[in-house]
Amino acid sequence: MMKRFEGKVICVTGGNSGIGRATALAFAREGAQVVIAARRENLGEEVVREIKKEGGEAAFVKTDVTVPLDLENLFQKIKTTYGRFDCAFNNAGVGGPTARLARQTTETWDLVMNTNLKGVWLCMKYEIQQMLEQGGGVIVNTASTAGISGSPGSAIYSASKHGVVGLTRSAAAEYATKNIRINSVCPGPIATPMLENGFALRPEMKEAYLDTIPMGRFGIPEEISGAVLWLCSNEASFITGYLMTIGGGQTITP
Ligand SMILES: NC(=O)c1ccc[n+]([C@@H]2O[C@H](COP(=O)([O-])OP(=O)(O)OC[C@H]3O[C@@H](n4cnc5c(N)ncnc54)[C@H](OP(=O)(O)O)[C@@H]3O)[C@@H](O)[C@H]2O)c1
Repeated sequence: MMKRFEGKVICVTGGNSGIGRATALAFAREGAQVVIAARRENLGEEVVREIKKEGGEAAFVKTDVTVPLDLENLFQKIKTTYGRFDCAFNNAGVGGPTARLARQTTETWDLVMNTNLKGVWLCMKYEIQQMLEQGGGVIVNTASTAGISGSPGSAIYSASKHGVVGLTRSAAAEYATKNIRINSVCPGPIATPMLENGFALRPEMKEAYLDTIPMGRFGIPEEISGAVLWLCSNEASFITGYLMTIGGGQTITP
């Protein structure tokens, strides 16, 4: 039986860890050729090995999403290797240190905004150029429930993810007639190194976070990857500019 993404080329930024890693594996299991872009080469190559061990196809391209030259190199490599690419999961991101807004630093602003917002915009810029040339494609950006509501202690992170929502909705409208669909997933707290590292620094946050989730548990990366694959599939062919909240009910009540 034909797999869902057989013959498709997919790029996953932040594909060497957490949500991105689970999504890269899921796409590969569905027959896609997966390009993983992130900075830590050892972790990236490890995911490539895991995919190949399962009989899939993948490559790692060392990329810092805050560096335009790295992204030009990434998309040029994809073009010369595969000639096209069908879906992009713009997922690379950082949390940044937690503190109330008045105690935050310009260094944190630059790190979080450059990675989470400028990085996504730059990826979209190159992806859309290629998708226009080839006649279409699908983009999914990783926002957050913090991109829909406020996130005390993480105002800069929240602002960056609200920015991702703005990029998603605006670009979805701009390219809707060009056969390019653009959506966002908005995860609630998901058990990944990002969350675990945050709890290691501030263990009291764990209970506080759990209290915000009606289902009473953290999500797992596979609960995001399933949604990303669906949004990239033909089953979602009439969906664009959509923000899919996946947070155990986190945003049901204000
Ligand atoms: N976990 C959660 O609770 C949660 C909730 C809502 C949204 N999110 C979002 O989900 C996305 C994935 O996070 P995660 O939870 O899976 O955390 P993670 O395991 O820490 O993964 C973050 C990924 O981003 C990559 N990355 C960071 N800075 C980068 C840069 N400058 N250039 C290229 N890649 C970069 C990292 O790879 P390198 O360090 O090797 O570059 C890593 O692969 C992020 O956008 C995050 O904001 C997470």
